[in-house]
Amino acid sequence: MNSSATRGPVVVVGAGSVGRSLGANLVDHGYDVAVAVRDLTRPVPVGVRSVAIDGAGESADLIILAVPFDAVTSVVPRLGLKPGTILVDATNPFGRPLPDGTGSGAEIVQRAAGDQVRVVKTFNVLGAEHMANPQLPDGTQPVLPVAGDDADARGRVAGLARELGFDAIEVGGLDNAHLLEEAARYWGLIAFGGGRGRSFVLVAHQR
Ligand SMILES: NC(=O)c1ccc[n+]([C@@H]2O[C@H](COP(=O)([O-])OP(=O)(O)OC[C@H]3O[C@@H](n4cnc5c(N)ncnc54)[C@H](OP(=O)(O)O)[C@@H]3O)[C@@H](O)[C@H]2O)c1
Repeated sequence: MNSSATRGPVVVVGAGSVGRSLGANLVDHGYDVAVAVRDLTRPVPVGVRSVAIDGAGESADLIILAVPFDAVTSVVPRLGLKPGTILVDATNPFGRPLPDGTGSGAEIVQRAAGDQVRVVKTFNVLGAEHMANPQLPDGTQPVLPVAGDDADARGRVAGLARELGFDAIEVGGLDNAHLLEEAARYWGLIAFGGGRGRSFVLVAHQR
């Protein structure tokens, strides 16, 4: 752990449950973290700067998208993302069906960001409360699939996730993102349908 901001900047779009939790973890690991918010007067977590959504992506190599899925198509084009920027999609398209012919929410994120932005899907498969300090008391770590078409971007995000305390596993291209979105439902099935509650995470043990 490191309390001085020496790395980054990383921009987290949205300062809700996911944005705050991941943001706190990044700060703990020495990253310079900005949260892009629509109300700059609202307090943000200690160690984090708040910035406007418009242009928030212009000076960051890595942006984490943590807004409700309904907001994706209006928020992403406002970020001013540069070609080559890594956009981490932590959203889940729950609550309404995807448009016909669309395989995943991540496809909609990619379309909103443009072809030159490197979209990587991850951080969506478990409850936000695990994201600030993912490692379990027994030393095991939540499994975290990471999907993206650009191998360099996918590897960098997986490396960051490992640093933050996840058992990150690269699982191929963005055409697999729909499975990560289903995996979020699967987590919810066991947490709520199965009665394990939100403190439950999936761990990948090897035989
Ligand atoms: N919660 C979880 O356990 C969890 C886990 C994995 C993935 N996810 C996914 O992660 C995303 C964020 O979830 P969350 O639980 O963090 O949501 P949340 O607590 O409701 O926070 C959402 C954030 O997005 C901002 N926002 C909402 N609409 C916006 C808009 N139109 N323009 C700009 N900003 C907007 C909100 O700003 P205001 O504060 O101004 O309203 C808030 O900062 C969702 O797609 C969700 O499916 C959630």
